[in-house]
Amino acid sequence: MSHPTSQSLVLEEFGTLPRLVERPVPEPRPGHTLVRMKSAAVSHLDLNVVDGKFGILPDLPSIPGTAGSGTVVASDVHPEGSLVLLRGKALGMRRDGAWSEYALVPDAAVEAVPEGTDPAMACCYFSPAGTAWASVHAVADVQPGERVLVTGAAGAVGALTVQVAARAGAEVIGVVGRPAKLPHVPAPAKVVLAADLSADAVGGPVDVVIDTVGGPVLRDSLPLVRPRGRVALVGYTAGREFTVDLADFLLADVSLLPVNLMTRGKEVAADTRRMLGDLTSGELTLPIEHHRIDGLAEAVARLRSGEAIGKVVLDLA
Ligand SMILES: NC(=O)c1ccc[n+]([C@@H]2O[C@H](COP(=O)([O-])OP(=O)(O)OC[C@H]3O[C@@H](n4cnc5c(N)ncnc54)[C@H](OP(=O)(O)O)[C@@H]3O)[C@@H](O)[C@H]2O)c1
Repeated sequence: MSHPTSQSLVLEEFGTLPRLVERPVPEPRPGHTLVRMKSAAVSHLDLNVVDGKFGILPDLPSIPGTAGSGTVVASDVHPEGSLVLLRGKALGMRRDGAWSEYALVPDAAVEAVPEGTDPAMACCYFSPAGTAWASVHAVADVQPGERVLVTGAAGAVGALTVQVAARAGAEVIGVVGRPAKLPHVPAPAKVVLAADLSADAVGGPVDVVIDTVGGPVLRDSLPLVRPRGRVALVGYTAGREFTVDLADFLLADVSLLPVNLMTRGKEVAADTRRMLGDLTSGELTLPIEHHRIDGLAEAVARLRSGEAIGKVVLDLA
């Protein structure tokens, strides 16, 4: 009898798009969970891996996808048929990831998800929610009444950061790069276009910047922070580099703090999981745009260009 097959997106060369390939469904094995995938996130981290521009890269060929969700087919640990989130353990980096109709992953990369959760939300919430929580609480330590500027405020991480900072009692100002994004910044943030960034436009000095964009937006945000204020740096969609004048940096006396969800994941996991309940009930919002497994090229193009609104997800079932 022939072995059942399924479709996977397989990366054969860095800097190209993964190809849709028919492959045998993986055989269950001890210590691993076999999952029929429902959804997989397409994130900037995935694109950095696909481009071969990340510090952790797979041997090729490899299936990308650092986060996904689906139902358990075979596992020693998780009940058959239950909805699970796959992430961590270098999934989609050192080992095959979630861009596949079936995935066989180490049990430690599998988390139970509450009944009734939307599989698309289950697969994509952890990174933006965890990063938002880590930025506001663990890294910038935002206090009630502080003024917090969030860049990329209509992006997945930025929009959740706006909401988490507002819940922490901050006055939030959101920055977006293009006018089309203005209506997508969650309330109650005041919104400013990146091109108009100035002390006047944001109503005076801010205590904290949480920057999800990097490059020139980070450069333009730094002078808006009061002395002894904090800048939490999350991402670099607008550029990996910017130049610091060290004399100005010392004079400004502003701390530039990295946010790294990989090292903070355990620390923020409980709070992040609580946010999933609020995302399901609608108390927090995270828009999701859906693409088919054969629509990867468009999904990637929309994410790369910054046109995507919220998280980009592949529907796999
Ligand atoms: N440090 C960590 O642990 C961690 C964790 C998760 C994510 N991240 C990073 O955080 C960043 C934001 O992630 P996200 O999921 O929120 O992404 P996203 O939803 O795509 O939002 C990114 C925003 O960047 C802005 N942007 C500016 N210039 C851009 C350009 N040239 N191309 C594309 N977008 C551009 C866009 O906003 P405008 O249109 O308003 O300019 C876009 O909304 C990414 O760099 C991601 O890798 C880091």
